Amino acid sequence: MPRGVFITLEGLDGSGKSTQIKRLADWFHKRGLDPVLTRQPGGTPTGDRIRTLLLDSASTALSPVTELALMFADRAQAIAEVIQPALDAGRIVLCDRFTDSTEAYQGGGRELGSALVLDLHRLLCGNLRPDLTLLLLPSLESSLERARRRNTRTAQHAGPDESRFEQEQDAFYRRVWLKYSEIAAREPGRVVQIEGNLSIDEAHEQIAEAVSELLVALGHHA
Ligand code: ADP
Ligand code: TYD
Repeated sequence: MPRGVFITLEGLDGSGKSTQIKRLADWFHKRGLDPVLTRQPGGTPTGDRIRTLLLDSASTALSPVTELALMFADRAQAIAEVIQPALDAGRIVLCDRFTDSTEAYQGGGRELGSALVLDLHRLLCGNLRPDLTLLLLPSLESSLERARRRNTRTAQHAGPDESRFEQEQDAFYRRVWLKYSEIAAREPGRVVQIEGNLSIDEAHEQIAEAVSELLVALGHHA
């Protein structure tokens, strides 16, 4: 059975994940490889419906555990429908957010704790572990500043209402940031932190370097 490669991108809202995932996909294309791109929540027809429930600011009464359960329902479906089949076929999968987001936002931000999230990951996601996680995490101050600026911009443009998380206060994002830092310190072999206030090109260079190292370690010669 060929072995796929599973790479996730993580970070606070507006940290540059979708910008970098596109750059990374282009990097793979230039090397003759065609990665599968997906995101959470969403990425499957059922997941897109769950995403609407989760992110719509009209979902005001959602309890933290309901939010947690919906994130995992979305993820279990994405693994079954997209991620595992692609990995089984030997494909490279680039995923914008995965279980680290749940640990950071629901475990940290909503204060449900890491243990519950990690237990659910084992029970519902077969403990699927990314080969590499690229964590876009500048300092707390600049992360908060970026999230705030981004939220103001999002509030101004039309489109689907996905602002529920963006209405959270600094204390929430502070807890998310701390939990991400804790995950990076706990799993240095998997999580590569892209720190500092880097330009889009500089962050891409660091990401490309980490991915090249992973491919060499896995015996893929891109
Ligand atoms: P995310 O997917 O993490 O929410 P985006 O990739 O959508 O973040 O980026 C949010 C905004 O910040 C976009 O307008 C993007 O062009 C900009 N941006 C992304 N990376 C950087 C960077 N390194 N420096 C400055 N602005 C950036
Ligand atoms: P996303 O679309 O990646 O937003 P952004 O581009 O702003 O980073 O994710 C939507 C929101 O969902 C984001 O605020 C983080 C949140 N989220 C969780 O709280 N838990 C999770 O497990 C996931 C995957 C996302």
